[in-house]
This record gives sequence, structure tokens and C-alpha cells, in this order.
Amino acid sequence: MLYNEQEISLMANAIQPNMRKNGSVASVQHIVQDFFTPDHFQGKHVVDLGPGQCDFLDIAKRFGAITYGVDFDPCVTELGKLRGHNMAEAQNFQKTWPYEKSKFDGIFCRGSLNYYTTVQNGPQDAIVFLAKLFSSLKPGGWIWIAPWAKYSEEQTAIAPEILTLVHTFLKKHGVTIAVPSRGAIAHYGVTYLIPRIEIWIRHLHNFA
Ligand SMILES: C[S@@+](CC[C@H](N)C(=O)[O-])C[C@H]1O[C@@H](n2cnc3c(N)ncnc32)[C@H](O)[C@@H]1O
Repeated sequence: MLYNEQEISLMANAIQPNMRKNGSVASVQHIVQDFFTPDHFQGKHVVDLGPGQCDFLDIAKRFGAITYGVDFDPCVTELGKLRGHNMAEAQNFQKTWPYEKSKFDGIFCRGSLNYYTTVQNGPQDAIVFLAKLFSSLKPGGWIWIAPWAKYSEEQTAIAPEILTLVHTFLKKHGVTIAVPSRGAIAHYGVTYLIPRIEIWIRHLHNFA
């Protein structure tokens, strides 16, 4: 959500058209209400991958988190900085992960991670970034990730193998893979045109 003229004119130049319009914070509030408790934020280091209008980071910060974001859009990183978040710019955070030396208490991502885009040489490539991401998470750290998992036409034949590899990796790391109902999809703002909508959850309120 954008709160003043400065933010509205800054985001008018955003790369993704849906980031240019003033959004609503409601679906992010639903996520926080349903999955999180203040303990997930208070004094914790929390990162949002592709934070858009920074709604999740704002709520996390309000609950006392030290907040970080990464995005390819300078408008988004500028907005985050204006709101007091630590921001990194990366063309594609799945290829250039800027927080390699960090250990987070929590990783959030809604709609900005597509593990199919990292597959160049074979299905195994899909979990290279995930392994990197999990090594930036403390052992008891939480995740809430709703990937935007759309594969290209050329990947159709290997897409099931990629999905199995990703699921096996996630289960090995204690992640629950939730397939939201139609109502939950709207409630949590994950209404994407992709073959399969999932929410990956670890060490959060409902799934502890
Ligand atoms: C669909 S929007 C989601 C925004 C926010 N997470 C939300 O749920 O409202 C995708 C966001 O990720 C950023 N983004 C998308 N792909 C990216 C990539 N490969 N590397 C870095 N940032 C990316 C966009 O600039 C935008 O902020």
C-alpha cells in the first residue's frame, strides 16, 4: 500500500505494472493474523524476497523485527528504504543472492520466487537457490513462501520431476507444503495464474 504522494509518484515508475497501482494491505494482514505471533517478529531478523509495496516488512517492523528486502526494481528498494527497511537490489535474487553471509530468523516471500527460472542444465538446478536460501536461515527459523511457480513450454516434460525434487528438498528441511483452498487463495492474496498454488510453511503458528 502507498501512503503519500511521494510514494505514489515513486512507484508510478515501478517495473511491474501491478506495483504501480495503490494496493491493499488486507491480504497481508490476513497472513500475519493466521500464521504469525508477535514472537516471530520481536527482535528478529526477517527478510522479504520481492517485497513490492513492502506491506509485510512494515507489519514485521511494527512488531519489532529488523527488516530486510531484496528486489530487482529500484523503485521498490527506494520505497523500502523510505520506510526504514534494509534493502538490497539484485537483478535476480535467485541467481545473485545478496544475503549469503546473513542468518535470518524468518524468510517471507509472496509471488516473487520461481524455481523453474533457475533450471538451465537439468532439474537439479531448481534446488540450488533453495539450498542457498536455507543456509541463510537459522536452524529454528520460520518460512512463509508462496512461490510463483510457472514453467515455460519447453519445461513441460521435466516440470513434474522438478516439482518432486523441490518437494523432497522442502520436506527434508521440515517444511509443510500447504495447498490452499479457493477461499484461502483469495484471503491470502495468492490469486496467480499458475498450474499449482502452494504455501510453504515452517515453524509458524498454525503448523508448529
Ligand atoms: C508479484 S510482485 C509481489 C510483491 C509482494 N511480495 C506482494 O505480495 O505484494 C513481485 C515482486 O518481486 C519483484 N521481483 C520479481 N521477480 C524478481 C527477481 N527475479 N528478482 C528480484 N526481484 C523480483 C518485483 O519487483 C515485485 O516487487
